[in-house]
Amino acid sequence: MSSYVIIGVSRGVGFEFVRQLSENPANTIFGLVRNKAAVESKVAAELGRKNIHIVQADTTDSEALKKAAEYVSDNTNGTLDYIIANAALQAKTALVGFDTLSKDPKALEEDLIEHYRVNTIGPVHLFNIFMPLILKGRAKKVIAISTGISDPEMTLKGDIFQATPYSMSKAALNMAVAKFSALYREKGVLVISICPGAVDTGSLQTETEEDGKLGMAMFERFKRYSPTFQGPAKTEDSVKSVLALLHKATIDGGYAGIFISHTEGKPYL
Ligand SMILES: NC(=O)c1ccc[n+]([C@@H]2O[C@H](COP(=O)([O-])OP(=O)(O)OC[C@H]3O[C@@H](n4cnc5c(N)ncnc54)[C@H](OP(=O)(O)O)[C@@H]3O)[C@@H](O)[C@H]2O)c1
Repeated sequence: MSSYVIIGVSRGVGFEFVRQLSENPANTIFGLVRNKAAVESKVAAELGRKNIHIVQADTTDSEALKKAAEYVSDNTNGTLDYIIANAALQAKTALVGFDTLSKDPKALEEDLIEHYRVNTIGPVHLFNIFMPLILKGRAKKVIAISTGISDPEMTLKGDIFQATPYSMSKAALNMAVAKFSALYREKGVLVISICPGAVDTGSLQTETEEDGKLGMAMFERFKRYSPTFQGPAKTEDSVKSVLALLHKATIDGGYAGIFISHTEGKPYL
């Protein structure tokens, strides 16, 4: 039996983590969300499983995360096996580059800060607050869901000028993961950053014709980086491979603190 804390489970990759992991009734899943009532209804309607707890917590709110950790601790006798930092912000500004964003420096600054707040600082709070439980758990695995686009190599190979605040905040997340690993590896905690590949969650669905064109331009850059890229994978398949890697990875196997694709290879797409 294993216990999992996953943040950002209302939809997409996060919901699929909950779905797949809760298939084993011996697992206990704690899904952290911003709208508890809505996600509880969705989980009851679509999964209806008793081993899922939906807990209120915004990843940017350390007090809410502390309360969530108390709830988890009360239900697990003070232990936790896995944390998955999945929640993320990828705003519509992802479709353009610094040339466009620089037209409004204040908005650019706020956009950058908001991406860091959710994608970098959020996981840092999450890991710090739940680490005492992890240290008492058996698996001792802490995972950040990152993205290949945070790797300068991908940006340079495809000249991918888009998704700027998002990529920067995820690159900082990868460094936070390395720092957590440097601190906790000797205590037996595996901290790792995993890219799930491009996943068809609709997270960057475009609404206007103009955004559609910008989306196609980004897709063209992805093809430039990886000519065989055909489009995003099914959420189910991506999550399955992330979980396989997560369960396989060990400190002794060389996975401590690294950023790696779910396929363990490149290209990320
Ligand atoms: N989809 C892809 O192609 C892709 C590729 C590479 C990496 N990733 C990474 O995979 C992860 C999941 O992506 P996705 O496509 O499933 O994203 P998504 O569909 O946009 O879902 C994001 C999730 O994060 C939650 N969230 C956002 N801000 C939050 C906050 N402040 N506090 C708590 N929860 C918050 C959202 O909850 P609400 O419902 O409350 O908004 C939602 O559950 C992300 O880390 C993303 O960066 C995705």
